[in-house]
Order: sequence, then structure tokens, then C-alpha cells
Amino acid sequence: MTGDRGPLEPRSVPPDRAPDTEQPRWRRDFPIDWAEDDYVSRRDLIKYVVLTSGAFAVGHLWLVYKSLFGRREARAPALPVAAVSELPVGGAKTFTYPEGSTPRLLVKTGPRAFVAYDQQCTHLQCPVIPAVEQGKLHCPCHNGWFDLHTGAPLAGPPQRRLPRVLLEVRDETVYATGVEDSAT
Ligand code: FES
Repeated sequence: MTGDRGPLEPRSVPPDRAPDTEQPRWRRDFPIDWAEDDYVSRRDLIKYVVLTSGAFAVGHLWLVYKSLFGRREARAPALPVAAVSELPVGGAKTFTYPEGSTPRLLVKTGPRAFVAYDQQCTHLQCPVIPAVEQGKLHCPCHNGWFDLHTGAPLAGPPQRRLPRVLLEVRDETVYATGVEDSAT
């Protein structure tokens, strides 16, 4: 505290526009350059707006990137899963791929057409069941539905697609050749 100070240094005009000698004691003890104070406040506000907008924009760009490039493929050594003639159309079998994975479900959708997905529902991991005539996979736990041809969630609680197992048919044998993550 300065108590009885000499003549106050000239400063910018206080809000009440009275001379410094008529300013209240607290304002004389803690003099503020009002113009500078306003300037700092504006600068801080602009910094805050820029940082917030930047974070918002980065978040949106990340979401766009994930939706465009979010599904990643992990290749692994090819593994024979079934003979083409082993299953009837609409038939299914479980397997693991790569070794030690969660159970996968192979479904025969046509005479030489197959799809395979992680068998665990992306909601709470119940096993999904093929409903080939409806073109869907069904999770009976909470009545979740997935598209049989894409693994995308169609109805019920699941929000993410089923991870897809990549397949190839060679010499009348169906091989698993990789796994596609479910990022969406
Ligand atoms: S566990 Fe599949 S819908 Fe809930």
C-alpha cells in the first residue's frame, strides 16, 4: 500500500473520468491503466475463441478422417476355413482367425459366396446368429440387427459394425486372409 503518495502518475482516464486526486483510495492504491486492461481482456478473449475454434475444427477433422479411412485391414497368413461344398447356402460355421482370436462366423450366402465376421455383437458381446433369408445377422440378447453383407448395424443397441474377416476362395477352399477393424 502506498498510503500518502505524491502526485499520481498520469494514467488513462478512469471509468468515472474524475481526476486521479479524486479517485477512491483503493483505485489510487491499485492504479490500473484502463485502456491496457481492456486491451488484455480483448486479447485473452480472442485467444480463447481461437483456441476453442481450433480444437473444435481439429475434432471435426478427426471424425471426418475416421469415417473416411477408419476401417483398417490387418493382414495375417491365409488360413483355410472351409471347403466350398462343406456348407449349404445359408449355412454357417465358427472358426478362430488369427489363432487365439475371438470366435468368427463364416456364412455361406450363395453357391460360391461367403462372408465372415467377428461373432461377438458389438453391443455387449453376445454371439450373433445368421438370418440369411433376411440378409441380416441377429443378436438375440437385445434384439440387435446387422447387415449380412456389410456387417453394419441396422437396428437395436449396436452402434458399431461387426469386424469383418477378409476371405478368398482358392481351389474350392475358403481362406481367411485378414481382418477389417470396426471403427464406425
Ligand atoms: S449384446 Fe447384442 S444387442 Fe446387446
